[in-house]
Amino acid sequence: MSITKQEFDFFRDWARERSAISLEEDKEYLVKSRLEPILRRHKIDTISELLASLSRRTVAAGLEDEVIDAMTTNETFFFRDIHPFQVMRDHLIPQLERELGEERKLNVWSAACSTGQEIYSLIMLMKEHFPQLFDWDLKLYATDISSTVLEKARSGIYTDMEAKRGLDERLRNRYFTRLPNDRWQIHESLRKLVTFRQLNFIDSWPDMGRHHFVLIRNVLIYFDVDVKRQILERVRRRLDRRGFMMLGSSETTLNIDPGWEVRRDGRAAYYVPRATAGVSGETRPA
Ligand SMILES: C[S@@+](CC[C@H](N)C(=O)[O-])C[C@H]1O[C@@H](n2cnc3c(N)ncnc32)[C@H](O)[C@@H]1O
Repeated sequence: MSITKQEFDFFRDWARERSAISLEEDKEYLVKSRLEPILRRHKIDTISELLASLSRRTVAAGLEDEVIDAMTTNETFFFRDIHPFQVMRDHLIPQLERELGEERKLNVWSAACSTGQEIYSLIMLMKEHFPQLFDWDLKLYATDISSTVLEKARSGIYTDMEAKRGLDERLRNRYFTRLPNDRWQIHESLRKLVTFRQLNFIDSWPDMGRHHFVLIRNVLIYFDVDVKRQILERVRRRLDRRGFMMLGSSETTLNIDPGWEVRRDGRAAYYVPRATAGVSGETRPA
């Protein structure tokens, strides 16, 4: 099933407008392979037919969402890249705990959470090393554009392979229940701590209060520089003055948003808004 250059160009613009996802020139094969399951599900004969309906705006809203959903890449796993979690455990959370000890409020956002492994990793880390924080006013938000991944994240059910990726046996046995058919479910007591919400970065963002840390990892890579800049600025405005942000290991604010200062800690980097007091309480030059 082929796709013409004109159809591909239309689809690139369409996808960018709705999700900011930027498809490179030669990604026709990706569009085809992602859309074919939708054609089968909806008994649509050809990609051309689907694209024509999208362009005429004659498809149901649900189908548009399915198409966007299909274009997202949801790769994730527990304790991904490990170093950011080590820095949070060894330095950043203890620092925040000292600085926020009076208020006893902590607000965390896993932005682009995919199927939930990132926020659940953080909760397990906190349960293991900072159990006292669960007596605080703790707000844990996890958002994604895709309703499919959010549904899975809410259920906290993972295949055997997913539950073994990045997660050691001890934590799996402590925080998961084994289900039939080689699946694992994270305990309800952890699931109910998280507020999962659908959020598209290029739409309006719901009020989630001021965040003390924002994990926005392995998602900016899919966007153009202007979109990255807008998102980084918006995150900055929502961050508490003592807060910090983590990006994916191949992502950076450098040459995108000068409002962030990068700090390196071992093999991880984290970002604090420039010219304000960061988690360490130092005042940095403007
Ligand atoms: C590769 S996953 C990253 C998951 C997790 N943060 C990690 O690092 O393992 C990227 C996620 O970004 C989401 N995403 C893509 N475009 C988005 C948008 N415009 N707004 C919000 N989320 C988006 C996708 O649905 C996907 O689940």
